[in-house]
Amino acid sequence: MLVHIVTIFPEFFASVLRCGLLGKAVDQGLVRVRLINPRDFTADRHRSVDDRPYGGGPGMVMTLPPLVAALRGLDTPGKIVVLCPKGRPLDHDMALALSSEGSVTLVCGRYEGIDARLEDIFPAMIKVSVGNVVLGGGETAALYLLEAVSRLLPGFMGHEDSPEEESFAQGILEHPHFTRPEEFEGHKVPEILLSGDHARVAAWRREASLTETLAYRPELLFHAPLTPADIAVLRCADVSRRHIAKNCFLALVHAPVLNKHGRVGAASLTNLDIHDIIRVSRTYGIGGYYVCTPLQDQRRLGERLLGHWTGGPGGKFNPDRASALGLVRFADSLDEAVLDVQNRTGQEPMVVGTSANAAGTLTFSRVRRDMEAKPVLVVLGTGHGLAPEVLDHCAGVLRPVRFFSGYNHLSVRCAAAIIVDRLLGDAG
Ligand SMILES: C[S@@+](CC[C@H](N)C(=O)[O-])C[C@H]1O[C@@H](n2cnc3c(N)ncnc32)[C@H](O)[C@@H]1O
Repeated sequence: MLVHIVTIFPEFFASVLRCGLLGKAVDQGLVRVRLINPRDFTADRHRSVDDRPYGGGPGMVMTLPPLVAALRGLDTPGKIVVLCPKGRPLDHDMALALSSEGSVTLVCGRYEGIDARLEDIFPAMIKVSVGNVVLGGGETAALYLLEAVSRLLPGFMGHEDSPEEESFAQGILEHPHFTRPEEFEGHKVPEILLSGDHARVAAWRREASLTETLAYRPELLFHAPLTPADIAVLRCADVSRRHIAKNCFLALVHAPVLNKHGRVGAASLTNLDIHDIIRVSRTYGIGGYYVCTPLQDQRRLGERLLGHWTGGPGGKFNPDRASALGLVRFADSLDEAVLDVQNRTGQEPMVVGTSANAAGTLTFSRVRRDMEAKPVLVVLGTGHGLAPEVLDHCAGVLRPVRFFSGYNHLSVRCAAAIIVDRLLGDAG
């Protein structure tokens, strides 16, 4: 593979291209690296590669003429990759795709970045980021990409090691490794690895890969190819985020809420909301779910509905449903629900409102972080949403589910499912 690196600091690469497996690959010609300095394509006395930004502001911008001349001077540039924080995040699939290119050109920015018109001049170029951080220059990012791609070249790792076995290649993390001594300061190597039984060792390793992925990077599991046996392993493993789920409580408020004329009043209970929200709650293992209504006839109706499932024929017919519905609690008011959470957890919960309009500013990740430390009661409104006095009572209001969309009219049970998944789900 031929790799051109366009950089104003070619000396940056001198030592790394001589170290370890990458150094060996360079020695053997498996990877050929050509360093190109845009300064060699300047015409002025100072060999300038940067200038002040149009529109003002701090910092300098890399100018087009030397960069474009450097790139146009390459015989076989192959795919042009500009290292840039705005780019697509580098991952295993991208590294694999790049490893099958005969040649690539890595362009390293410096200063505030490169004049944006480079993209117009080389429309096929791609922008690649190595993470949500800003580095001083593209050199570190180019090296990172070069290492990731080179490892995947046939022959790079020697005969025995195969990149197929490593983290991300199969969509999940690799199993843990152990070596001698067999016991160190009382810590033993898992016995199965000493058994010499290859099939059992392989099964143990697959299981360990799956459970480590669930523990550290559960979002990877959404894209990984998994067999039914893998899914059975994951089912037995502890559900990720279980510890914060215990701190998550929901309250479905029926009064005071807005009606369709914008007036404050009460809404009726619905069987669907009670069932669907408690099934979501049970699935994600949340701490509790409150149905709040001050209307005693409504409450009696709700208790009769629940009784059918918890103590009556419904529960005998469908024990799963009974185990979920048994978790519902009724409260006359939101304040009563708050008090009950406090009694159950020993801590006053943070009360977080929800609304379909743009008033909400709390992010899901912020509330998830809060749940690490304290109980959070997420308040959902029926009718046309929570009355202003309820929202005022909240420590904050979550952003609407589709805050950038004009149409945002979800049923409360759908909103509850999406909100709980964003707070406790494993996708991100
Ligand atoms: C100081 S950075 C410029 C950051 C830019 N002003 C911004 O805020 O997006 C200079 C150069 O470092 C490289 N760089 C910085 N962070 C990077 C990242 N996360 N991934 C890839 N390249 C990066 C790019 O080549 C970039 O042009």
